Amino acid sequence: MAYILGFGGYAPDNVMTNNDWAALVDTSDEWITQRTGIKRRRIAHEDETTMTMSVAAAETALEDAGLAPEDIDEIILATDTPELMTPDTAALVQHQLGCRNIPTYDLGGSGCAGFVQAVDVAKTRITVTPKKILVIGVELISRMISATDRATSVLFGDGAGAVVMGPESGRAEVLDVISGTDGSHAEILTLAAGGTRNPFNESSLVSGDYNRLVMDGRKVFTEAVRRMSEASTEVVKRVGRSISDVALVIPHQANKRIIDAVGKKLGLSEDRVFVNVHEYGNTGSATVPFAMWEATRDQRIKDGDLVVLTAFGAGFHWAAAAVQF
Ligand code: UT7
Repeated sequence: MAYILGFGGYAPDNVMTNNDWAALVDTSDEWITQRTGIKRRRIAHEDETTMTMSVAAAETALEDAGLAPEDIDEIILATDTPELMTPDTAALVQHQLGCRNIPTYDLGGSGCAGFVQAVDVAKTRITVTPKKILVIGVELISRMISATDRATSVLFGDGAGAVVMGPESGRAEVLDVISGTDGSHAEILTLAAGGTRNPFNESSLVSGDYNRLVMDGRKVFTEAVRRMSEASTEVVKRVGRSISDVALVIPHQANKRIIDAVGKKLGLSEDRVFVNVHEYGNTGSATVPFAMWEATRDQRIKDGDLVVLTAFGAGFHWAAAAVQF
């Protein structure tokens, strides 16, 4: 069995509003609010990195769990915006946190589904070998995408979330996780430059391709709604429960319209679907752990609640977890 022992999160205190974006690119508060529900997002300060945000989130999760860095046996860190190409950000976090010489892994490239996939991996590993695993979802997207591309820049924000998982009883049991991939959609949401197909070179720098996130927003929208609602329904069924038993769904926070559509498909009232996208924008693989941290901290979740986490991202990858508090 696998439990969550503590929750943590971190968001930079630098707030960027829709009007701040409207002063930089051809957009408006009205457009961003109507199409996405986003009002503000946090942008990392210059001295912040993927590693520093991860460490801040991890420290709050460890404190919440009543554990020290040396108690951790493994780190899995989900991100599409790593600190370096190599080594992985998880190794930097292991050293900075002061953990023992434990194994660490980055789970990269899964876009916004990365954290829930990492929970899936952690649960399986804990079941095989009892150990305490720090699972982090983190994104410093503002430094990786084009600030001048209004179609993507206004959607994202920076942040990190973390949980400590372990084999003994804890705050919540991860009952089951399902995840899936359909790589036929890989080109619909992609950041190609910097990989082996399009290595960084002078022409990518001149064309600006090095930070151009290519996205067919409408296709992503439709698939995100379908996959997150289907995965949520399936995971709840697999643990022998029904959607009417679910106290709260914490979906990936990309767009309020996607979140509303998932809630509607599942037949849930608004108060049973968690939303904070208006405050933080889309923080990629950080949205779900950060939202879970907020929801526990603000007593949106009570003991006995069945909670569903679900996420969707580049790949396409998707995942859903049933978590019993
Ligand atoms: O986390 C996973 C990753 N991403 C997502 O989940 C995103 C999923 N998709 C979405 O959230 C939505 O598709 C968007 C918010 C990205 C776009 O909303 P939409 O209703 O699908 O709009 P659209 O792409 O059809 O664009 C409508 C118009 C276009 O103008 P024309 O061609 O109709 O004249 C765009 O050029 O809006 C224009 N537009 C903007 N206008 C003002 C695009 N971006 C902006 C902008 N400000 N920032």
